[in-house]
Amino acid sequence: MGITPKNNEKTFNKNQLLVTKTDLKGKITYANQAFVKIVGMRESELLGKPHNIIRHPDMPKIVFKILWDALQKGEEVHAYVKNICADGSFYWVMANVTPSVFNGKVVGYHSARRVPTREAISVIEPLYRELLSAERSGGISASQKILDKLLQEKGMAYEEFILSF
Ligand SMILES: Cc1cc2nc3c(=O)[nH]c(=O)nc-3n(C[C@H](O)[C@H](O)[C@H](O)COP(=O)(O)O)c2cc1C
Repeated sequence: MGITPKNNEKTFNKNQLLVTKTDLKGKITYANQAFVKIVGMRESELLGKPHNIIRHPDMPKIVFKILWDALQKGEEVHAYVKNICADGSFYWVMANVTPSVFNGKVVGYHSARRVPTREAISVIEPLYRELLSAERSGGISASQKILDKLLQEKGMAYEEFILSF
């Protein structure tokens, strides 16, 4: 939001996890040092901000719809996400996002991200480009259709597809 994207990719060590926690609305309540470092903002700039502060304009809306639909059902979800850094660079992650439950109630959410394989990104990047362009003309129902068709052809559920690389 408000950051001009530039075509410079950042990456991180394959043993690292980028972790954030949010409240129920997706406001950041915790960010680990690896996350703070790659984003290039101060921890104090991140805490309390909505998570879309690092949303990249190349991300199709449908991915976040899938994410929030799963979380609202109390389910975990995996997603490939392209995020933006403070300087406009980008980085790809494979995220596992889960509801945090306390005393039987969802009190927030948690995301742990690892570096994705290049193989996965070689499939996901053109797919997201197609989904985004469909959304520009036909909205989220158009990208939903493309994704449904792809999953149907593969005979896979969304989670199965995401975990198949
Ligand atoms: C735990 C958690 C982690 C999230 N991590 C990211 C993230 O790394 N990047 C991102 O763009 N959105 C992330 N989101 C989703 C955002 O809340 C938001 O839905 C998304 O950025 C789309 O924003 P928009 O609807 O304002 O366009 C996360 C949400 C949760 C609950």
